[in-house]
Amino acid sequence: MRLSGSSVRAYADESIAAASIACGSRVLSRSLKYHRPRTFFCFEGHCSGCLVRLGGVPNLRACQSPCTPGAEVEGQNAFPSAEIDLLGAVDFLFSRGMDHHTLMTGSSVLNKLANKVVRQLSGLGKLPTHAAAELPEVGRFDVDVCVIGGGPAGLAAASTTARAGRRTVLVDDQLRPGGSMRTDPRVGRALAEHYGAETVRTGVAVLARSTAIGFFPEDDGGVLAVSAPDRLYRIYARHWIWATGGYVVNLPFPDNDRPGVLAARAVGRLLVDHGILAGERVCIVETPAMEQDVTALAQALTGAGADVTRVPLADVVGTRGRGWITAIDTKRGKLDCDLVAVAATPAPASEGARQQGCSVVLDEHAGGFKIVTDDAGRTSTANVWACGDVTGYQGPAAAAADGARVGANVVEAG
Ligand code: FES
Repeated sequence: MRLSGSSVRAYADESIAAASIACGSRVLSRSLKYHRPRTFFCFEGHCSGCLVRLGGVPNLRACQSPCTPGAEVEGQNAFPSAEIDLLGAVDFLFSRGMDHHTLMTGSSVLNKLANKVVRQLSGLGKLPTHAAAELPEVGRFDVDVCVIGGGPAGLAAASTTARAGRRTVLVDDQLRPGGSMRTDPRVGRALAEHYGAETVRTGVAVLARSTAIGFFPEDDGGVLAVSAPDRLYRIYARHWIWATGGYVVNLPFPDNDRPGVLAARAVGRLLVDHGILAGERVCIVETPAMEQDVTALAQALTGAGADVTRVPLADVVGTRGRGWITAIDTKRGKLDCDLVAVAATPAPASEGARQQGCSVVLDEHAGGFKIVTDDAGRTSTANVWACGDVTGYQGPAAAAADGARVGANVVEAG
């Protein structure tokens, strides 16, 4: 593919983000207002830090877009390039912040000029080069079970129901199913591939790179709308299983948005799924709830040749570096590093289930809302079930066991 005019070699179907970071191109876009460098944080399509223009289409996520031969990838919201952006002068000129509502309102001439410039600069990305293609036909699934989420819990639940003869469809929004298994050195990519293959072998219809965009109860007892790369789908099911896992989140410390501050799960994904060591001197900022996960990641990074330091969140007072992180400041002094991995408890991805009326409760560790289930995995809504991290963080191995258990309970429910 071509990245900002230069040729980049990549593995087929590798994400553009992984190929970029492997070739040392780390800043792909700039923030809207101050033009601060922006880059990857989550590597799972949920932070919007990696937006690029791909083949003339703006605002696509590099971490969820596969490399293809000849693909043209450009950074955006920058001039002349994301790495060297002259518009970054805004950040320098307005180092104490800029209130654009009152910018140059003292003089009507200057105000008109300021409005003109601001209108030119506003918006994220430029309009697509080509008109959108005609919308394709809308596909339809009528199944016994619809599983939303293709991580350990979702794959285990779907293969359990399919093996018992239930017509099952699985919806997953990632480039490849496997979810947190592809990020955790204790489980690993091989097991993710095995679970994925097993799910297909049992007869599950897998919709990969597909997002559940809304549930509409008024349509024929309820329909799930799904956006897939090739078309939209309407899914009707007798049972629904939410296995959407959790979102990686950042931790609160000064300058936590500096490029080079990545989610620990993203650092794990790069290593486990792509074989990429994202930094040689890695600081892991952690909370007590993630201690075991951090230990596993630290061991894997050390085994791959990185120098790893673990820092409790309470000790962090700031970060340093302009284009990329160079150090982290702690209460005990400065630690030089070229990567910060933030290990926070994932926040349950419960929006879809909430749309179906399922009760949720605040997850105090993660700061999001987890789905409430009974011992069998039933939610408060009839025929709607949930398993895995969306019911509270468990980790990949426990989530897979939970998915298999809830899948069996769905089968038993008929
Ligand atoms: S959306 Fe791509 S890194 Fe977060």
